[in-house]
Amino acid sequence: TAHTYILAIESSCDDTSAAVLYNGKVLSNVVANQKIHEAYGGVVPELASRAHQQNIVPVVHQALAKANIDKKQLSAIAFTRGPGLMGSLLVGTSFAKSLAYGLEIPLIDVNHMQAHILAHFIDEEGFDKPDFPFLALTISGGHTQIVKVNSYFDMEVIGETIDDAVGEAYDKSAKILGMPYPGGPLVDKLAQEGNPKAFPFTKPRVDGLNFSFSGLKTAIMYFVQNNVKEDPDFVEKHLADICASIQYTIINIIMDKLKKAVKQTGIKQIAIGGGVSANSGIRSTLKDAERRYGWKTFVPKFEYTTDNAAMIGIVGYLKYLEGDFADENVAAKARYHL
Ligand code: KG4
Ligand code: ZN
Repeated sequence: TAHTYILAIESSCDDTSAAVLYNGKVLSNVVANQKIHEAYGGVVPELASRAHQQNIVPVVHQALAKANIDKKQLSAIAFTRGPGLMGSLLVGTSFAKSLAYGLEIPLIDVNHMQAHILAHFIDEEGFDKPDFPFLALTISGGHTQIVKVNSYFDMEVIGETIDDAVGEAYDKSAKILGMPYPGGPLVDKLAQEGNPKAFPFTKPRVDGLNFSFSGLKTAIMYFVQNNVKEDPDFVEKHLADICASIQYTIINIIMDKLKKAVKQTGIKQIAIGGGVSANSGIRSTLKDAERRYGWKTFVPKFEYTTDNAAMIGIVGYLKYLEGDFADENVAAKARYHL
């Protein structure tokens, strides 16, 4: 039997991550988060790039040490080519290229969005893998997409956001309510204690399977301004109800589009990924949809939903099996479509 060890590197946004996979099984998955951005209320590209430069060597060393292997055992190196922040991508790309060159092993370029989807194929006890074809909903701070997945390497984006991503909608709403960045998890937590129908926010009208979330942020901003004029303590008094209403609106927007996508494609398997798939409301609504509409839904292990190198590694492994390698001139790509 073949012994395939893949070292994977992810540096597309603000997390530096390295993972080692053995025949598609994760031996290690190390993630260094960048706390620095909290103070700025969002990711600062220049600071992200510099933090990647500091983190990449120790993170790769840790990943190899945790996997208990020497770099000479590696079969190939996979890295995130894009999409993402150019300065961040360059750090991972240059590192992966030089290490693969030095070790004289193949280099494998990976699309970050494809990796979020194929994270479902990491061997993990207690987690089922979807069958082809399925619909993938990727929801994070940077992305919102519905993808029709026909096979590992045949994917078709059938809907995406025309402005803000779902995570951005959460974070910007949270900011208006005076919460620290990233506010998504906090809004989710408070929402669970509030009345989702307390304050109705209108849903945007967007054609087809595309999403729009920037209108919601504006609606919340005016809603808060108007009410604070009458009562300066309005937000404080009604925080749980406001969060529950925001969450209810966002989930409604997502569910409307998913139902439409199921109707359009006839596919009832839904696999979610990205940081926002941690959301309690989205998880329970999807579970509910299994009973109500006969869907089958898939949520990966939490550490494979947020940005991580293990998901890059599984794509790397699948491409390795196909002999699909990058050449030495491969360059990072900030905009990189599926
Ligand atoms: O995938 P991720 O870790 O990073 C990227 O954006 O690539 O996603 C982070 C996003 C942030 O916007 C954060 O607020 C949101 O996911 N998020 C949540 C929850 N947990 C994380 N949003 C809503 N509810 C949550 N429980
Ligand atoms: Zn991501």
